[in-house]
Amino acid sequence: MSTSSQSYPMSGGDDQHSYIHNSSYQKAVIDGVEEKARQYILEKIDLLNLNPDLSTFTIADFGCSIGPNTFHAVQNIIDIVKLKHLKESQGISTHVPLEFQVCFNDLPNNDFNTLFRTLPPSFEQKYFSVGVPGSFYGQVLPRNSIHIGHTSYTTHWLSKVPENVCDKKSPAWNKNYIHCNNLLEEVTEAYKVQFTKDMSVFLKARAEELVPGGLMIALGECFPDDVAMYETWSGIVLDTIGDCLLDMATSGVLTHEQIELFSMPVYFPQYSELERAIEQNGSFTIEMMETTRHPLEAKQLTNDFVTSMFRAFLSTMIEKHFGYTVVDQLFNQLAKKLSKHPLDFEKCKKNMVYYIVLKRNEH
Ligand SMILES: C[S@@+](CC[C@H](N)C(=O)[O-])C[C@H]1O[C@@H](n2cnc3c(N)ncnc32)[C@H](O)[C@@H]1O
Repeated sequence: MSTSSQSYPMSGGDDQHSYIHNSSYQKAVIDGVEEKARQYILEKIDLLNLNPDLSTFTIADFGCSIGPNTFHAVQNIIDIVKLKHLKESQGISTHVPLEFQVCFNDLPNNDFNTLFRTLPPSFEQKYFSVGVPGSFYGQVLPRNSIHIGHTSYTTHWLSKVPENVCDKKSPAWNKNYIHCNNLLEEVTEAYKVQFTKDMSVFLKARAEELVPGGLMIALGECFPDDVAMYETWSGIVLDTIGDCLLDMATSGVLTHEQIELFSMPVYFPQYSELERAIEQNGSFTIEMMETTRHPLEAKQLTNDFVTSMFRAFLSTMIEKHFGYTVVDQLFNQLAKKLSKHPLDFEKCKKNMVYYIVLKRNEH
């Protein structure tokens, strides 16, 4: 069963600040790997061998948020599986068309109402939907029930902030920094330990839920091994948000102590760290592990785009720690700071997008 997790879902609803309207950065990656997924599934997954009597094909999206990206991701998978099933069952007289079930998983306080209200119309969708509230750092679905699992831009959200980084007496205290920017060695170490533990729990749970031979597809971002978070554009944005909070403490809107006790449960691993975490698990074979540049990297992302994107990620967390009234002011200040000191995407070190396909080993 799912264990508890610190829970900061993306901005719900469908107003201008919602994740629905501020998730095109992630969608660009989902779209970018569509062709790779198509080729891989067409070549490698052996549906009739999974189960010759298969009539319901079950897909789960772990950390689906509120859409629309999850709808694109699952529809891509369904289209490919349908095609594959048709090819494999040619000439088989007992062939029955597959039915699809999609399990949308996210934290219980995710805005599932908006997710289900904005599902594509049923004549387009042609699948049965199930909401699965619970932390993916634990089993959220029955054993051997999922044929393809998908997750995008999720596992950098840790199950919790490593305890020591908010403890002023600990050598791993993160001081006035609000995330793991890799400037303090002990802090980085504490985050690394938490990330490795969490990945192990995540993969163990998925190994229970997937059928033998089932696939787990994961997309997200990591760094080359010689790059630190503070050198990347997203690291610079998070450090700038930290500076805005400090300015707000100086002007009395919040306290320095609130900042000293705040650190985000977010960690982007380096490539080899991610690879090691998967290999150590042992329940899956890495069928594909590729990295590319982010499709939007070549374009200069505007300050407005960056501010809105980070607001959609972080406002529930900021609200919980600093109070509701802080959110507008913080992101207005961020927009001002970014226009005074624009991000220089050319000079920043680059993040990498990863695309991983894992196959659940037979027991
Ligand atoms: C950046 S969003 C990505 C959403 C979507 N997959 C996409 O690619 O657009 C990260 C999502 O992961 C969810 N999440 C974070 N930790 C989680 C956990 N422990 N269990 C389930 N979902 C989690 C968040 O609530 C959020 O909806």
